[in-house]
Amino acid sequence: MTVLGDQHVVVIGGSSGMGLAIARAAAAAGARVTIAGRGETKLARAVAQAGSRATYRRLDITDEVAVAAFFEATEAIDHLVVTAHASSAVTGAIDTLANMTVASARTFMETKFWGPFVAAKYGQHKLQPQGSIIFFSGAAGVRKLLPHHAAIGATNGAVEALARQLAREIAPKRVNVIAAGLVRTPAYDGLSAEVRDRMYADYAKTALVGRVGRPEDIAQAALYLMSNTYVTGQVHEIDGGRP
Ligand SMILES: NC(=O)c1ccc[n+]([C@@H]2O[C@H](COP(=O)([O-])OP(=O)(O)OC[C@H]3O[C@@H](n4cnc5c(N)ncnc54)[C@H](OP(=O)(O)O)[C@@H]3O)[C@@H](O)[C@H]2O)c1
Repeated sequence: MTVLGDQHVVVIGGSSGMGLAIARAAAAAGARVTIAGRGETKLARAVAQAGSRATYRRLDITDEVAVAAFFEATEAIDHLVVTAHASSAVTGAIDTLANMTVASARTFMETKFWGPFVAAKYGQHKLQPQGSIIFFSGAAGVRKLLPHHAAIGATNGAVEALARQLAREIAPKRVNVIAAGLVRTPAYDGLSAEVRDRMYADYAKTALVGRVGRPEDIAQAALYLMSNTYVTGQVHEIDGGRP
């Protein structure tokens, strides 16, 4: 088991899904965890699950002034994880380019790309020299298998490119990206049960391990990236062997 000692882990987006699993795993590994997000009820529930080593702070990652103030008021950070995203189901970012409104694509990118961009801009000053940042992208950044993912693919690609450049810029502090496969999280709560189940079943059929991901699969990978000080500037595909 990975041991994080008394390290401080900040998870923006930690009130749900993979961020919550990472917050729980980091707290179980001994870290002090700050969970950030917008919804207070979700945050309080997340802290209750992560245990006494976790606290929460409200933050909208699309608000640059708030992000700057958040880090200004934050003690030294060992690991900064950003899982915040605006659900593509809500933003309408999954569509053909011809049909999609530019506003939908911008709304998606505002959280998923500019969020990590701004968080890293202000958060890097609080990172310990051995510290690390973990961003989240997704398969559409490099693969052509998903239909109607132009905006999402472009956003993921931008996140990955940012991480590679930043890894050089702030070294020896480390920067990595997790490109998750399909993982069962509340991100898909907006879909009908029928559509969601079909999506999961189709993925399980093609993934080499024969199943959809669990948030805990991703948390395990995140803990590895926090603790292995020889890994930086990389995109890690944790996807059950998607073809
Ligand atoms: N699930 C998948 O299959 C999958 C696959 C590939 C990649 N990914 C990527 O993996 C990451 C995590 O996904 P997930 O499925 O675990 O997400 P999720 O369960 O939908 O959780 C998203 C989190 O982000 C927070 N958030 C949303 N907007 C925010 C904002 N403006 N400021 C601060 N926090 C905000 C949410 O809380 P509030 O709404 O209360 O703020 C929530 O805690 C995302 O980048 C996603 O695109 C997911």
